[in-house]
Amino acid sequence: MTDSVSTTANQAKYRADYTPPAFLIPTTNLEVKLDPEQTQVKASLVVEKNGVHNNSLELDAEVEKVVQIEIDGEGLSPDEFVYENGKLTINRAFEKAQVVIVSEINPKANTALEGLYLSAGAYCTQCEAEGFRRISPFLDRPDVLSIYTVTIIADEEQYPHILANGNLIAKQKDHKTGLTSVTWNDPFPKPSYLFAMVAGNFDLLKDTYTTISGREVSLEIYVDKGNLHLSDHAMESLKKSMQWDEAKYGLEYDLDTYMIVAVDFFNMGAMENKGLNIFNSKYVLADEKTATDTDYHGVESVIAHEYFHNWTGNRVTCRDWFQLSLKEGLTVFRDQQFSADMGNPVLERISHARVMRTMQFAEDAGPMSHPIRPDKVIEMNNFYTVTVYDKGAEVIRMMHSLLGESGFRKGMDLYFKRHDGQAVTCDDFVSAMADANNKDLSKFSRWYSQSGTPELTIQETKTGSVYTVEFSQRIYGRDDAYKALTIPVKYEVLNKHTGQQVERGVFVLEEHKGKLEIKTDQDVVTVLFEDFSSPVKVKRSLPLSDIKLIINNASDAFCRWDMLQTLWQMVAKEGKADGEAGRTLVNCLIDIVLKQELDPAIRAELLTIPSFQSLAEAFDEINVDAILKTRTLIPSLVTEQTQQAIRNELAEMGPVNNDYNKENVAQRSLKASLLNLLSFSDGEEVKSILRSVYDNAPNMTERVSALNASLNLGDALVQDLLNQMHKSFSQQPLVFDKICQIAASYNGDEVYQMMEYWASQEEFDPSNPNRIRSLYGAFVMRNPAQFHALSGKGYLFLERLLTDVDAKNPQLAARLIDPLLSYQRYDEQRVALMKGVLLRLSSTELSKDLYEKVHSALA
Ligand code: PHE
Ligand code: ZN
Repeated sequence: MTDSVSTTANQAKYRADYTPPAFLIPTTNLEVKLDPEQTQVKASLVVEKNGVHNNSLELDAEVEKVVQIEIDGEGLSPDEFVYENGKLTINRAFEKAQVVIVSEINPKANTALEGLYLSAGAYCTQCEAEGFRRISPFLDRPDVLSIYTVTIIADEEQYPHILANGNLIAKQKDHKTGLTSVTWNDPFPKPSYLFAMVAGNFDLLKDTYTTISGREVSLEIYVDKGNLHLSDHAMESLKKSMQWDEAKYGLEYDLDTYMIVAVDFFNMGAMENKGLNIFNSKYVLADEKTATDTDYHGVESVIAHEYFHNWTGNRVTCRDWFQLSLKEGLTVFRDQQFSADMGNPVLERISHARVMRTMQFAEDAGPMSHPIRPDKVIEMNNFYTVTVYDKGAEVIRMMHSLLGESGFRKGMDLYFKRHDGQAVTCDDFVSAMADANNKDLSKFSRWYSQSGTPELTIQETKTGSVYTVEFSQRIYGRDDAYKALTIPVKYEVLNKHTGQQVERGVFVLEEHKGKLEIKTDQDVVTVLFEDFSSPVKVKRSLPLSDIKLIINNASDAFCRWDMLQTLWQMVAKEGKADGEAGRTLVNCLIDIVLKQELDPAIRAELLTIPSFQSLAEAFDEINVDAILKTRTLIPSLVTEQTQQAIRNELAEMGPVNNDYNKENVAQRSLKASLLNLLSFSDGEEVKSILRSVYDNAPNMTERVSALNASLNLGDALVQDLLNQMHKSFSQQPLVFDKICQIAASYNGDEVYQMMEYWASQEEFDPSNPNRIRSLYGAFVMRNPAQFHALSGKGYLFLERLLTDVDAKNPQLAARLIDPLLSYQRYDEQRVALMKGVLLRLSSTELSKDLYEKVHSALA
């Protein structure tokens, strides 16, 4: 009856404007007749007024067509409702009614991958954050919880697996139409963003898990036909996660079935829909032939993350989207704890610190900076950020540090006791933590409202037998309004000469300034922020001798690694390798190359060359050339003196068993670091070593290590090995992604031809986000030399790409633009080039997603 052009204005919403919903929807019945271009959705809703008012029922709606509306069995005439600008307004008064809405949608035309869409022939849905309104008009907000019963009608021959949340309650074939209708019921009230349905033809891996109270849960993983052999690691990870959550938090799974569906077309990692997770196939499928150790780790942690959401997110959900960190920060923290328990806690912490320093600090210093609980949002999809997720997890971790393991658990228990079945706020979480521990966390909760990265200036003095460390905190550029944050500082005091431990403890800075005083007669130096105890920047000038002492003696391996990063940053800032810092760094690295007795996992990390972004972090104005130079000069100098030792060690290492466990992973990552260093020594011999590593590699991890190292040795070898990989793994999209990533990282003008070549291959479907991210995402993120080339070619390349992608998939485009947003941190010439791109984009028609980012960057 009514067509609606979606012209939702680019209007901001504010956290402060929250009001409870005017209506509630206690039950939702959906009947969905699947069709690629004309799917019909009939929603029968019980709608009741929430409180006393005379407002009309205003539903969020972004469907193709509203076909028919009935209230308590009576059809509405066209003048009784309006469908425009993303809202369906019903102008008939009632206290409580049965509202039936029939609408039509087009899954095939859905390239944004939000709502109901087709992924390689299978129907699937993505509703977080505001995708349900593209399936049916609804109160599409997380504080409206409803019990869903869903009937899906489809041709069972074509779609043997027809799934929705909860329990299967009926299945019937209509012999007249030949269609099958399948009905699911989810007994747990849930917000619409957790709704999911799927119809497709899959291979199914089944297993069971017996919960701690003895209930048997059926575990089901659905993958594309032919991929069954790639799903074992996902299943093992799921069982480990279920067991871990019972042991660590006393949390048990609550339905009889837990389903995971792997799809190829997905904007994010995965989605925690109640009882029916939908995953990017990248985070399900793995075997040693096609997946690296990093991929195995990714599968394990994403499976865990989505599983943990069942309690932190689903049983207790968010009141509104400004509270996203309530579920995401907490669930990331929980998956981090899980990964640390499954693998190596120090490596986990190093990787968290890397994400924070290279991505989150940059976001917090840029135009899209926001508190972990944002105050203002134009497009919610833009707030699935490293700030909300990873800084959010750091904030939870600090609470954990302040309350201790058992205090934190008490807080979690109280949180579930109070809020199970509710949609709540970050304040509710903090209150549960505070009340369970009789602790005042009101000052601490400033972490939720202040954006920006605190900068800690450290000054050490010694008077008599008192050694004092003075801390002062601020946020760059916000000195006036900045309220002091609570900052836990884990520290160790070392004797400056022997490296022996003098003392170890935790200091909590609560004011703008604070002092840690230590009584000692020894000459000492402190190791600060052990285990990355707070997400802050540290301004401290230590003499090189102290830096070296810490690298060699700190008890916490994280801090040994951390000090080495500081040294790298000093060298980058000096802009030369033969200064004092450069020589110290080279010597430290040579020591590490020669110290075979060090723990292999840590040694591999210490020998990893820091990313462009992590060195850039040290600059107020990023010096691209100095960073690029540092990243090649230092390893060249190290290898000059150690190449024989490296070759010998590589030769002696021999084969590592393929199993994924921490010892084997450590060996392989050490091998990768050594190979990479070796690639900085030139000569044909190195090429032949890499080629033979590639040829003899028993698994994908080692093949990728050889390929990454080959990037330093000219394009012929890389292209050759990539072609070889392509031949051996044709039609395997996840391997193809690795090829794209490596090709796009090549530092040379040839990279454009290489990208064109791989984009022209059959496997490259430009409507698949994984392909775009692998090829072009790698170019903008992992190829700083070409992306930031002074010719401006890299920026222009991104500009064209953004225009293309934005028209089809705004979420994807909005992620690709991120590196441009920090343009103000570069030199004058680059600022002009990057700003030019943003200005030109701003004068074109943009999605809401890109609009918000482009305009905030130019504001
Ligand atoms: N909620 C998902 C997660 O973190 C992420 C996601 C957000 C997926 C939005 C799809 C869309 O686990
Ligand atoms: Zn999540």
